Amino acid sequence: MQRPLPREAFLREDTYARTRKPVDLAWTLIPDAYTSPEFHALEQQRIFAKNWVPVCLAEEIGKPGDFRVVEVAGRSLILTRNADGELRAFHNVCRHRGARLCDGSGHTGRFFTCPYHNWAYDLDGACRATPHFAPADPLQVPCDAGDEAFDRANMGLYTARVAQWACLIFVCLDPSSPELTEELGDLPERFRAYRVGEYRIARRVDYEIKANWKLVAENFMEYYHLPSIHPALLDVSPVEAHYRWQGAGKYVGLCTWPVGADTDDGGWRGLPPLAGITGQDADAARFAWVFPTIGISVNANHVFLLIARPTAAGITEESAYLLTHPESVAASADPESATDELLRFWDTINREDIAVVERVQDGLQNTEYQGGRMCSRFEESCHRFQNMVIDAMLGLQRIPSGDDPETARRFGPPQNDA
Ligand code: FES
Ligand SMILES: [Fe+2]
Repeated sequence: MQRPLPREAFLREDTYARTRKPVDLAWTLIPDAYTSPEFHALEQQRIFAKNWVPVCLAEEIGKPGDFRVVEVAGRSLILTRNADGELRAFHNVCRHRGARLCDGSGHTGRFFTCPYHNWAYDLDGACRATPHFAPADPLQVPCDAGDEAFDRANMGLYTARVAQWACLIFVCLDPSSPELTEELGDLPERFRAYRVGEYRIARRVDYEIKANWKLVAENFMEYYHLPSIHPALLDVSPVEAHYRWQGAGKYVGLCTWPVGADTDDGGWRGLPPLAGITGQDADAARFAWVFPTIGISVNANHVFLLIARPTAAGITEESAYLLTHPESVAASADPESATDELLRFWDTINREDIAVVERVQDGLQNTEYQGGRMCSRFEESCHRFQNMVIDAMLGLQRIPSGDDPETARRFGPPQNDA
């Protein structure tokens, strides 16, 4: 195979034939998928402009008028809450001459006002003011405009779909894509006992990663690398305690069970666990990478999230959030220290992961490399994910099914309670 492949090859099924094979026979996704600017540009259209993309946490726009500018598929959007506290997403472009309306994040009173000629839009996106530009304005040249008469009612901001699951906010640019609940499949039910929606942000750390976003995702979902990359983690999370934890939905699920006690290097226990989490859930760490760009790690006493934002084929911005539950914090003798300790533990793991995915990115630049073989015991998760990427690149609207009983028996936790 010549590398790089031409753009049109990225849109053909046969390009991916080796990754489409059953996992025992499969090869990894074509290396150009991680290095080619053309592949990256196609992904923007075919993955990020079509799927529900996680953009922030609900509490980051907590009140009416709070806003946050986010970028999805190369388009700038304003996320906000209207006067009733309902979520809204607008394209960040003024309907007059197209100026970008807002930057960053903050709070606005009742309006978004364009800095260019002061057109103003309310929190539902309706155009409310167009200074010196109204039908009765004496400055306008009178004429019989008929259907072309200027009407502010037609000048509202362009909207995008926005939805919330648990504490997460997602945006979807495609009006014809399925609802978020359909794409998530059984994941909300799997996480139900953990009450993830009640968690609050305790810490946030941002990273810049010199690697493709899919390497970040794949690294999250395989535990083959634990012994070599995270020796300290092995004490609380041995490889043999890892299992596939997979139902229907656009996600890849896995778990650690049982989670070990903390060691001198730290661990996951720290804060008191939440009441009402029973059975395997009480003693497990549950992980899900929701397609395309969020990694969710849930324990009985805290939640750790990674939101990835691809900015180029080889660059990913990542926001990590450590979440704690008010009940757990209230029950802790020293919640600040326990939270700092948890963050230190996660941050160490995350930096180890970042170093190795950057190393993979470096290796993939070498055009001699044509892809590698999947290890079915450990990389069926990556196989599922890479096939979701291929589906999206080919325009196939498909929500992957869950495991059949044989796969669940082969790879799932014993006495699988999922
Ligand atoms: S471009 Fe926004 S008011 Fe003119
Ligand atoms: Fe890792």
